Amino acid sequence: MSNYHIKHLEEYYQVYRKSVRNPESFWEEMAEEHFVWRRRWDNVLTWDFEKPEIKWFEGAKLNITENCLDRHLPTRGEKTAILFEPNDPKEAAQHITYRQLHEKVCRMANVFLEQGIKKGDRVCIYLPMIPELAVSLLACARIGAIHSVVFAGFSSNALATRINDSDCKMVITSDGSYRGGKTIDLKSIVDKALEDCPGVTSVLVVNRINGKVTMKEGRDHWLQPLMDDAYADCVAEVMDAEDPLFILYTSGSTGKPKGMVHTIAGYMVYTAYTFKNVFQYREGDIFWCTADIGWITGHSYIVYGPLANGATTVMFEGVPSHPDYGRFWQVVEKHKITQFYTAPTAIRALAKENLDYVEKYDLSSLKVLGSVGEPINEEAWHWYNNNVGKNMSPIVDTWWQTETGGIMITPIPYVTPTTPTYATLPFIGIQPALMDGEGKEIKGNQVSGRLCIKYPWPSVARTIWGDHQRFKDTYFSAFKDMYFTGDGALRDAVGYYRITGRVDDVIIVSGHNLGTAPIEDSINEHPAVAESAIVGFPHDVKGNALYGFVILKETGEGRDRDNLRREINQQITEHIGPIAKLDKIQFVPGLPKTRSGKIMRRILRKIASNDTSNLGDTSTLLNPEVVQQIMDEVL
Ligand code: WTA
Repeated sequence: MSNYHIKHLEEYYQVYRKSVRNPESFWEEMAEEHFVWRRRWDNVLTWDFEKPEIKWFEGAKLNITENCLDRHLPTRGEKTAILFEPNDPKEAAQHITYRQLHEKVCRMANVFLEQGIKKGDRVCIYLPMIPELAVSLLACARIGAIHSVVFAGFSSNALATRINDSDCKMVITSDGSYRGGKTIDLKSIVDKALEDCPGVTSVLVVNRINGKVTMKEGRDHWLQPLMDDAYADCVAEVMDAEDPLFILYTSGSTGKPKGMVHTIAGYMVYTAYTFKNVFQYREGDIFWCTADIGWITGHSYIVYGPLANGATTVMFEGVPSHPDYGRFWQVVEKHKITQFYTAPTAIRALAKENLDYVEKYDLSSLKVLGSVGEPINEEAWHWYNNNVGKNMSPIVDTWWQTETGGIMITPIPYVTPTTPTYATLPFIGIQPALMDGEGKEIKGNQVSGRLCIKYPWPSVARTIWGDHQRFKDTYFSAFKDMYFTGDGALRDAVGYYRITGRVDDVIIVSGHNLGTAPIEDSINEHPAVAESAIVGFPHDVKGNALYGFVILKETGEGRDRDNLRREINQQITEHIGPIAKLDKIQFVPGLPKTRSGKIMRRILRKIASNDTSNLGDTSTLLNPEVVQQIMDEVL
């Protein structure tokens, strides 16, 4: 069982060197020793970043659910696999054992088969954070269907776009969801979306809130009665290592979301290995990642990584502020959480509240704290470290992406000395590079540049669903033979990495990636709007908030501005979801443009951030006078 669990810094360096000198033999050893296969691979890795084409463990056969469920049954059958903590603290938590989870997955898989779902079909999952969400991912994997989870905060429009992009045949949803004090009517959002999705032939509905729903004859079915009637066992489909496991959409610089495709074997090996090391997971630990399974963090570190290790993984349905700001800490105490993994935006929101909310709970079970999704600022880092970790639990600031599948740059707790705001060192097998504007690698320390990765790792996305050219253009064309992340980073004197933020038109708001283009498209559809531009500006809880500069048509000029602002945000909520609403909307006479007609966002970003002392070179602008006009009326 060599090097599966790294325990000190020297060992990290030794294993790291081994993993980059001979990646194939390193990952082969991991794959061989820690997973069950139906057939061994012929090639560990074939790759070509030009095409791009990346294949890990080609020729191998397996089913990921046998690795996440069946193989644990003899030794951990009665152990809790999923610990479900409901939105309402008065509702009892559910402890679902590995044996029970196996049975639920098999029953649901059999229901999917009865609905005519076959290997390779796409299934859209639009569910709140309830156990059926995790079960439905695994049920797809059991029969070789490809899941596409859409975060249940997205609007019906956004849902329809994603369903159609990957031609999903079936949707799994619920009557509704509980979030804090609110109840959300999910089924009607699905009904509206499906008006534009002719390819969907069945909808399975979980009863979560006893809500009133309309069931469309022949298309819609309540899930539970079908599961009760289904066989409790389901033979796992034997899959190829490189068959797709799932599609997960992420925002890009242009309008259409990108359906990132992850394949089975490499994703399994890498998420399991990172889970074990980045959280120093040991048998008996209770691991809690607060993300939603609608995002990659939930896929990799609520479902697949923990279950592949036979761990107990917590699923939390609620929000950090309900019934009060102590909810996270109450849950940590109640379930004796050992590893707690959350986003900086949540930490910043909680740090604003009274310390009593933290201090009244016993947090002594915690051994490791994690952060993900955006840079964690120094103040939030210290608050987390002092008040939650009591200076005893190392913080792992984990940098990674939907596209990378698993954690890429991170400390290993109790191994890597941490520095606030630094994601520190590359994980085993990861070879980062910083690149300059000319496409050359910047070597040495105390440098900054565009962050790239030089060599394939097992869980890198393989393509964008239906658009391989866009995959190539976005990630493999900016720098030769490199995967380009879209982030900027610096490397300090000791070789630690600090991620400085996006260098493209993606803005991270409360940890959610938002592309400017789809939001602008949505605003521009308002009848009174001629044109718009969105930029991010610093926000003390969300990290970034959105600032919209909007040019009105003549017909809009006479309208009440506050009403227009409300209508624009309403429109964004309908097109994308409430996460993309603008904090500030300024109506402007024009937008600063280059002679080739490109909006100079750099200038707008400075204006929105109140940082106008040095606007840089404006001489290439077609309409420099507009900059002063905008500044005169800045909000
Ligand atoms: C940002 C989330 C700084 C980064 C797993 C990346 C981070 C994008 C960190 C991916 C971090 C994620 N420090 N920035 N620790 N983690 N990011 O696809 O800009 O939702 O490119 O994946 O989030 O977001 P995604």
